[in-house]
Amino acid sequence: MTEPIVDTLVVTLTVNGTPTRVEVEPRTSLCDLLRDTLALTGTHAGCEHGVCGACTVLVDGAPVRACITLAAACADATVTTVEGLSGPLVDRLRAAFHAEHALQCGYCTPGMLISAVDLLQRKPEASEDEIRREMSGNLCRCTGYVGLVRAIRACATPAGTGPG
Ligand code: FES
Ligand code: FES
Repeated sequence: MTEPIVDTLVVTLTVNGTPTRVEVEPRTSLCDLLRDTLALTGTHAGCEHGVCGACTVLVDGAPVRACITLAAACADATVTTVEGLSGPLVDRLRAAFHAEHALQCGYCTPGMLISAVDLLQRKPEASEDEIRREMSGNLCRCTGYVGLVRAIRACATPAGTGPG
């Protein structure tokens, strides 16, 4: 007995707080869904094979690489992209990235922000070593990382007294 070939699937998920219903091919990545179908182009496609971290988004609160995550696997999930980040920590990080010159071309920045938010939510007092280790999955071809680490470190204070 043969199974019918499935051309498309209907997936329901919540993206940046908005309930969303989309039709996708089984092979569609979460990155392509976000960028091409939902026009959320803040999620950047870099290497597209899980190495650079430019496509990092939060799925059910945890960072994932959207380029190697199937959209169909995100059924009923809650997805947060850089466009959906908000709150005091995000405001401080944005200000610190600016103050510390933590970006040049900006291509890596959305993934960096997502990873930094996740890191500081788990480890609000992260040391420089922890920041370097935890952010090592996000590659930047411009900054040399010094400004990036300094910006995240500036926000890693118990009282939240970083810039902004
Ligand atoms: S684009 Fe997904 S990890 Fe590089
Ligand atoms: S700022 Fe250009 S890749 Fe990071």
